[in-house]
Amino acid sequence: MTNRSDQLPRRFPPGFVWGVATSSYQIEGAADAEGRGDSIWDEFCRRPGAIKDGSSGEVACDHYHRFEEDADLIAGLGIPAYRFSISWPRVQPLGSGPWNEPGFAFYDRLIDTLLARGIAPHVTLYHWDLPQALQESGGWANRDTVGRFVDYAREVARRFGDRAASISTHNEPWVVSILGHEAGIFAPGLKSQKVAMQVSHHLLLSHGLALQSLRAQGCKAPLGIVLNQSPIHPATDSPEDLAKARLDDGLTIRWYMDPLLLGRYPEDVMSFLGADAPVVEPGDMDAIRQPLDFLGINYYTRNVSGTGAPLDPIGAGKEVTAMGWEVFPGGLSELLGRLHADYALPPVYIMENGAAYPDVLADGRVADPSRIRFLASHIGALADALEAGVEVRGYFVWSLIDNFEWADGYSKRFGIVYVDYATQQRVPKDSALWYRDFLAGTRG
Ligand code: FCB
Repeated sequence: MTNRSDQLPRRFPPGFVWGVATSSYQIEGAADAEGRGDSIWDEFCRRPGAIKDGSSGEVACDHYHRFEEDADLIAGLGIPAYRFSISWPRVQPLGSGPWNEPGFAFYDRLIDTLLARGIAPHVTLYHWDLPQALQESGGWANRDTVGRFVDYAREVARRFGDRAASISTHNEPWVVSILGHEAGIFAPGLKSQKVAMQVSHHLLLSHGLALQSLRAQGCKAPLGIVLNQSPIHPATDSPEDLAKARLDDGLTIRWYMDPLLLGRYPEDVMSFLGADAPVVEPGDMDAIRQPLDFLGINYYTRNVSGTGAPLDPIGAGKEVTAMGWEVFPGGLSELLGRLHADYALPPVYIMENGAAYPDVLADGRVADPSRIRFLASHIGALADALEAGVEVRGYFVWSLIDNFEWADGYSKRFGIVYVDYATQQRVPKDSALWYRDFLAGTRG
C-alpha cells in the first residue's frame, strides 16, 4: 500500500461524495407489511437449497421499522450520503396497476429523515427484487416488463425526483442477467444463456427508455446506472487464455459499456453468442444510448480468466475476503483508467466497494482490521485514479450494516456496522469508526 492512511483524506477534492450503501431486500424485512407484494427473491428463498443457510429477507435487519435508528447511525458516523434501493413490490405489489400508498409513505419518511439529518439520499430503482407477479408472465425475458419498469420509474421520480441526490435505474444488470438467468444461483433461478442475454437487453432498454421518459417529465435528479465491473486478467499469456480473457471482458464489461455509451453491442460477443444473441428491435440501440449524468461502478475484485482450471486465489497465496474474492485494490485504478481511455465517460461514482470478513462481537466491540485495510487501500486506489484524470465524484462503502447476502444468506457480513440478528442491535465495527475519522479528515 503506497498511501499512508493519515494522508489519504487530503487527496480528495472538496465536494467529493462519501457514503454507505444498502438495498431493499437485503435490509428491510417486513415482507408482509402494509400491502407489500411478493418479489422474486421471496419466492426464490422458499426453494429448498437455494440459500446456503436456508434463510430469507423476511425479517433481515428490520430496517422497515428501524430506519430512524439507521439514519441516526449514518449521521452519528458523519457520513454525508446514503444509497438505498426502492422495493418495487412494496410500492406496486403486482408490478403493474395500483400503487401501494403505505409503501411510498415509507420511502417518503425515509428520505425526509435522511434530509433532516443532512444525509443525501441516492436512490436505486431496481436492486433485484422484481414483483413476483411480473415473473409469472415471463419477468425480464418478456419485453412487456420494460414498459412496466418505465411506469414504475416515472412514479418514483414524480414523487421523489426533487429530493433524491441521484437516481440509478439498475444495479448490476450483469448479475441479474447471468447469475439469475444463466447460472441460476440468484432469483429467478433460470439456466439459459439465450434467456439471460435477452434479459440483459431488456434491462438496458428499460434503463434507456426510463431515462428518456424521466427527462421528458422534468425529473431534477441526476440519472444513471450502476454496473459491476472487474478488470479481467488472463491466467497465462497463452493465446487461448488471452482469447478467453478478451471474451470475458466482452461479456462483462463491453456488453454493458458499448451499448450505453456507443449504441451497439460488441461484435466479438455477438458472434460468440450466435443463436443466443438477443432479439434487438429497430430503435432499441438508440434508446439505450441516452446521455448519462453519471456512471455508477461497483468494484470488489479482479477476475482471472483462462481455459484451464479456475485460479484458486487461496492456493495461489493471494489474500482473499470471506467471499473467497481476491483483495486487489490496484484493479480499481486500472479499471477506471481503462474505462476512461476507451469511452467518453460521464462522471463516475463508486456505488459499492467493501468486503465480508468473519466478524465477531466481543465485549461490545468488533475488531475488523482486515476491512479497514481493505477500505483504505481501495480509497487509495481511487485517489490514484483521480490523479490520473478520471472524473470520480463519489464513493460508497458496501455496506452500512450486515445484511442478507443473497444466496449466502446471513453467513457473510459486509457491514461496517455489526447486526446482532437475535436482538437487532447495531454495533459500529472498528471499520465504521475508522471511516468516521477518515471522513472527519476530509473535512480538514
Ligand atoms: C453486489 C451487490 C450487493 C452486495 C454486494 C456484496 O454484487 O450489488 O447487493 O450483495 O455485491
